[in-house]
Amino acid sequence: MAATFRAFIVEKTAEGFQAGLRELDRASLPEGEILVKVAYSGVNYKDGLASIAEGKVVRTYPMVPGIDLAGVVEESSDARFKVGDEVIVTSYDLGVNHFGGFSEYARVKADWVIAKPQGLTLKEAMALGTAGFTAALAVHQLEKNGLKPGNGPVLVTGATGGAGSIALSILHNLGYQVAASTGKEAEHNYLRELGANEILNRAETSAESNRPLEKERWAGSVDSVGGSTLAYLIRTTKYGGSVAAFGNTGGFNLNTTVLPFILRGVNLLGIDSVFCPMELRRELWQHLASDYKPTKLLSHIGQEISFEELPTALARILKGGARGHTIVKIG
Ligand SMILES: NC(=O)c1ccc[n+]([C@@H]2O[C@H](COP(=O)([O-])OP(=O)(O)OC[C@H]3O[C@@H](n4cnc5c(N)ncnc54)[C@H](OP(=O)(O)O)[C@@H]3O)[C@@H](O)[C@H]2O)c1
Repeated sequence: MAATFRAFIVEKTAEGFQAGLRELDRASLPEGEILVKVAYSGVNYKDGLASIAEGKVVRTYPMVPGIDLAGVVEESSDARFKVGDEVIVTSYDLGVNHFGGFSEYARVKADWVIAKPQGLTLKEAMALGTAGFTAALAVHQLEKNGLKPGNGPVLVTGATGGAGSIALSILHNLGYQVAASTGKEAEHNYLRELGANEILNRAETSAESNRPLEKERWAGSVDSVGGSTLAYLIRTTKYGGSVAAFGNTGGFNLNTTVLPFILRGVNLLGIDSVFCPMELRRELWQHLASDYKPTKLLSHIGQEISFEELPTALARILKGGARGHTIVKIG
């Protein structure tokens, strides 16, 4: 390992906020049992927030953002991992309270590390990243709550985004009729290629309404948008159906009534990837490496960029302009 290595660092000082690629030395890395030589990271919406002064996700400065990383173990003081193992680390404090994946080396807690499953390369693992893991968790929770392909169509909102694109692909793989909602007219073909049977305009799925219930339409839904879109999903879900909600790109507030819950038995499922228990995490990564794995993962969803292109990709995701999930080649 060289004396210094490259990392994308955000810093808040008396002079203001700074973000950019800098040299870091080994002694600056936080404590942890596993040193990883990072091969790839990815760009999530939360990483975009971490890269700006007003993002409110970084808890201590200076910070190396990057909530995802995949690479090779360089040093280990934990019996579960040995030098040379290929590993994945996502979420927990990574990139918000503990130096993250936008760095050629990362030192992390062994309890956060997942052995890369067979069936995925390191690059594919980062084409999925937290976006893919969250999509997998949402589908898993929908099925646990009774969703089956025969129940009717499932709607994915924010469908061209990272989590949306992967949720659409997983549902298509599993045999669902999938509808996709998007604000991007130019990306309808992309969504069809991922398996969308129907495409809705974002204006329809984010419209405000005073009606507590509307025509029953969706057997289930995966929502990466929140706000008025989540309210739309709740009032249009079929009897006994479920909404899996994990996003807030469209807002934090939720304007709804109790009627969909008490008259239609609608389930609102909260999805949190950050502190998802390790046992379920491993199970879902196995699915992502097999039956859930998007068939067009590298050809359509994952787009590789260089470390130098990272600032541009972070700015793009904050503007809602991302398509699929950006992979950052680090090492
Ligand atoms: N709870 C968790 O554990 C968890 C984990 C991962 C992500 N998340 C959250 O999930 C969301 C999606 O994450 P991501 O990484 O997939 O982000 P992303 O790639 O930026 O995707 C978000 C998509 O939402 C849509 N969108 C953007 N701005 C919008 C607006 N103002 N109104 C309505 N739709 C808008 C866009 O899709 P279209 O143009 O196709 O509409 C966009 O591509 C974020 O809020 C993120 O913080 C939560």
